[in-house]
Amino acid sequence: MSKLKIFVGTVYGGALDVAEQVSPLFEQSGYDVAIVEQPSLEDLTDDMPDLALFCVSTTGSGDFPGDFVPFVRELKTRSPSLAALRYGLIALGDSSYGDTFCGSGRALDEVLADLGGKRLGERLEIDAMETFMADDAALPWVEEWLTSQGLRG
Ligand SMILES: Cc1cc2nc3c(=O)[nH]c(=O)nc-3n(C[C@H](O)[C@H](O)[C@H](O)COP(=O)(O)O)c2cc1C
Repeated sequence: MSKLKIFVGTVYGGALDVAEQVSPLFEQSGYDVAIVEQPSLEDLTDDMPDLALFCVSTTGSGDFPGDFVPFVRELKTRSPSLAALRYGLIALGDSSYGDTFCGSGRALDEVLADLGGKRLGERLEIDAMETFMADDAALPWVEEWLTSQGLRG
């Protein structure tokens, strides 16, 4: 069975809620799903999953949620090769913050790509100004992502 790990970075729980809501869609497509909160680098690099999905919100001024900071710091300082990584990314933000809209999701995407990770499809950016419930945007996006990327088992 293919393994999917969903890595969550959240302050208020919205990104975790997204992870929990989309998880059954992957299970229905034959994935063994693990949701990882407060991830460490080893959660990604040891026993690398067949597929990864990052669900991260932005706090401060374009900053990573506190629980997610060590993960990104380790990626940057230890620079593991992520050549075998295929991933998707859902960024939660609020466009009223202007230039820092979805700043953490965008920064994470860049770090992962710099280390050789291959993003499948486009990043989803969910704007709290437009979408009250993030799931309303995430669920159809995941359905479409599974189909367009040929990820259904
Ligand atoms: C103190 C604070 C700072 C924020 N800063 C940003 C920001 O710089 N850029 C952005 O796009 N969204 C920002 N947001 C909006 C959150 O990213 C957005 O509400 C998101 O849905 C929260 O997700 P969470 O529940 O997973 O933490 C901020 C929200 C708060 C409360």
